[in-house]
Amino acid sequence: MPKAARAKCVAVSAVVPEKRLTNADLEKMVDTNDEWIVSRTGIKERRIVADGEGLSTLAIPAAQQCLEKAGVSAEDIDGIIVATVTGDYLMPTTANIVQDAIGATKAFAFDLANACNGFVAALSSATAFIESGHSQKILVLGGDIMSSVLNYKDRNTCILFGDGCGAVLVEAGEVDGPGIVDFELHSDGSGAQILSLPCSGSANPPTPEKLANGDHFVFQDGRTVFPHAVRRMAEVSTNLMEKIGITKDDVDILVPHQANLRIIEPTARRMGVSMDKVIINIDKVANTTAGTIPLALADAEERGLLKDGTKVFLVAFGGGFSWGASYLTWGR
Ligand code: UT7
Repeated sequence: MPKAARAKCVAVSAVVPEKRLTNADLEKMVDTNDEWIVSRTGIKERRIVADGEGLSTLAIPAAQQCLEKAGVSAEDIDGIIVATVTGDYLMPTTANIVQDAIGATKAFAFDLANACNGFVAALSSATAFIESGHSQKILVLGGDIMSSVLNYKDRNTCILFGDGCGAVLVEAGEVDGPGIVDFELHSDGSGAQILSLPCSGSANPPTPEKLANGDHFVFQDGRTVFPHAVRRMAEVSTNLMEKIGITKDDVDILVPHQANLRIIEPTARRMGVSMDKVIINIDKVANTTAGTIPLALADAEERGLLKDGTKVFLVAFGGGFSWGASYLTWGR
């Protein structure tokens, strides 16, 4: 089917909580140390929300700032997609809460759960809405409040994650103008149990006993996930490069999911992209699940590396397993 339009990413913003949780803080909570965390992951600190704050606490200002940067009014938005696995509630969706708070009165709104690949999946969905001619302007948010599902007595998981949310405004533009060139999405449900929230839905609803046992906390067999992440991040990136006929020279910045510096480095290597083109902020904000890519995009913009015309490659891998990549030229 011929495209009615190309989806353009025209503005980005990100919001993280005030409170910093450093490796030194974690040393007082679990049997860990700064040297282990930095050498195994690249993380130095993460941000954590205050009691009573949820995803919408970050998502609402992220959406407002993004619209302000783009010079677009909330009433002109056709849709809001929030990628998350830790929304304010399962129902209503955080997207609905954002829609009401910012006054996007004509926008449809839904959450999309695809774990760490959530932002790439949500951006790809928005692209499809726009390319089909259905929508003109969609706000795509990605964020998670991982502190709400972390067991701060489990050193295997609590050191890895943080809280944060970002937003990107996607608009319809000329079919042969700048924007999203293509994307790939993949899944392999055989990895479902290796990285999960075991007590979070209808198959195993929470009870007082299960909550007391900590069954609602995130579970990850990190050592088993690791080689899958390395393999799939590299594979989807090189496949997409080949499919659309680009080389490393067509990538100005690589914006990968920030789960582990030791996963990011081999991905860049396989793509032939040098590390000075790779946006890394895992040291400051850790793994914010669906938030990593929009947070890194906002960081790139702040550092002057993301402008109109910048050629951007996005890639992510996470729970499910699900993974994906997207290539685009930034701006209007
Ligand atoms: O974002 C979604 C997708 N997720 C990922 O991509 C994560 C993939 N996995 C990883 O990034 C890594 O596997 C981790 C960072 C989670 C763990 O690193 P690792 O190099 O795979 O360590 P490990 O789990 O093999 O553990 C090595 C050792 C173990 O001790 P022994 O058995 O060798 O004596 C652990 O008990 O390190 C120990 N350990 C720790 N030590 C200090 C585990 N966690 C810690 C800790 N501090 N926090």
